[in-house]
Amino acid sequence: MFRFAQHDRIRSLEPPRVLNIEDLRRAAQRRLPRVVFDYIDGGAEDEWTLRENSLAFEAVTFRPRCAVATPACDLRTTVLGTSLPMPLILAPVGSCRLMYPRGEEAAARAAGAAGIIYTLSTLSGCRLEDVAAASKAPVWYQLYLVGGCDCALAAIERARKAGFSALVVTIDTAVAGMRERDIRNGAKELLSGKLGAMLPFVNQLLTKPRWLAAFLADGGLMKFENVVIPGKGPMLYADVTAALEQSVVTWDDLTWIRQAWNGPVVIKGIHTGDDARRAVDAGANALVVSNHGGRQLDDVAPTLRVLPEVVASVGDRIEVLLDGGIRRGSDIVKALCLGARAVMAGRAYAYGVGAAGTAGVARAIDILRTDLIRTLKLLGCASVEKLGQSFVDIPQEWLRK
Ligand code: GLV
Repeated sequence: MFRFAQHDRIRSLEPPRVLNIEDLRRAAQRRLPRVVFDYIDGGAEDEWTLRENSLAFEAVTFRPRCAVATPACDLRTTVLGTSLPMPLILAPVGSCRLMYPRGEEAAARAAGAAGIIYTLSTLSGCRLEDVAAASKAPVWYQLYLVGGCDCALAAIERARKAGFSALVVTIDTAVAGMRERDIRNGAKELLSGKLGAMLPFVNQLLTKPRWLAAFLADGGLMKFENVVIPGKGPMLYADVTAALEQSVVTWDDLTWIRQAWNGPVVIKGIHTGDDARRAVDAGANALVVSNHGGRQLDDVAPTLRVLPEVVASVGDRIEVLLDGGIRRGSDIVKALCLGARAVMAGRAYAYGVGAAGTAGVARAIDILRTDLIRTLKLLGCASVEKLGQSFVDIPQEWLRK
C-alpha cells in the first residue's frame, strides 16, 4: 500500500503534470498545510521584493545567435575551486523537516545524486552529520549565530568534522522579517505546543492527513538539532525568533568566524556594491547577492538588478553568486550573462521537498538542467563559460551605478 502510494506520488511529478517549477509549487501546495506552504512561498510585508526578484528576469531579454550548431552544451563550472556539473547550488532553506520527513536529508540526497552542492541551514531539523552523510557531493553549512558564540563555535566544529566544505554566513537577518502570512496562519501558536493557543489554527493541519501522518511518524515538531545551547540541548522551535534578534552578525564577527572555520567563507546577503567590497575586505572567498528571497527587508531591489553594480564593484577579486527568483534555467543563464558565477536556488527546490521529498528535489534539479541545455542551444552558446552580456539586453539604468 505504502509502496503504491509512493509510486503514485513520483509518477505525478512527471510530464505532463509537472513541466516546470510552478507545477512543483502547486504540487507542494496540494500536499502541505497552508502554514507550511506559506512558510516556503511567502515573503516579507507586501512581498514586493519577492515578486520583483522574479519579474527582474523578465526585464532582461535574450540576443540569440542563430544558425549555430551546439551539439553538446557544457554546463560545468567551478565555485571555490570545486567543479560543479552545472552552475546551480541549493540554497539554505530552514525547517525542511516540517515539509517532508527528514526533509534536509531528502534534499541533500537528491543534490548529491546530481553532483550538486547542498547548503544546510542552521535552522534545520536534521543533524548536520546525517545531512552530510546523505549527499555524495560537497555540502556547505549556513551559519546563524542563534544560541550565541559558543553554540556557533560548536556547530562550526561539528560541520568541519562532518566534512562540510564551505561556511555560508548570512548577514541580512538582524531580526526576522515581517512574514504576514505566517502570522495570519498562526505559525507562532502552532509552534507553541500549547493546545489552547493552537486550537483556532489546527484545522489546516487536519485537512492534510497524508502530510500529518508523515509528520507525526517523523517525530512531530522538530528541534533545531544543530543549535545546541550549552547546558540545555537543541533549541526549541518556539525560541528561534527571539534568538535571532540577539544574534546579529557584524563584520567584526567575521574575524573569529574565519579563524574558527579555517576554510572558505561565503557571505550571503549582499545588496550593494559597498557591502560587496566589505565582503572582499573581510576576506570572504565568495559572496551571494541575496535579499533572502524577499523574506527580510521588503522594498530592496531585486537581486538581478543589483548584480551588475556588485560585479562592477568587486571585479574578479571574489566569486559572485546570486539567489532570488530563480524558477527557470533561462533565469540561471541571465544571471550568468550579468556576471554571476553560479546561482543558488531556494524555493525552486523547497517546493520539490514539500511535494515529494527526494523525488521532488530531483525533479526540480532535472527541470532546471534540461531548461539550461535548451536555452544554451537556442542561444547558440556552447557552454556556460562563454555566456556574457553580449547574449542579453539589460535595462540601461541597471548599468549606471
Ligand atoms: C530563514 O532563514 C527563513 O527565511 O525563514
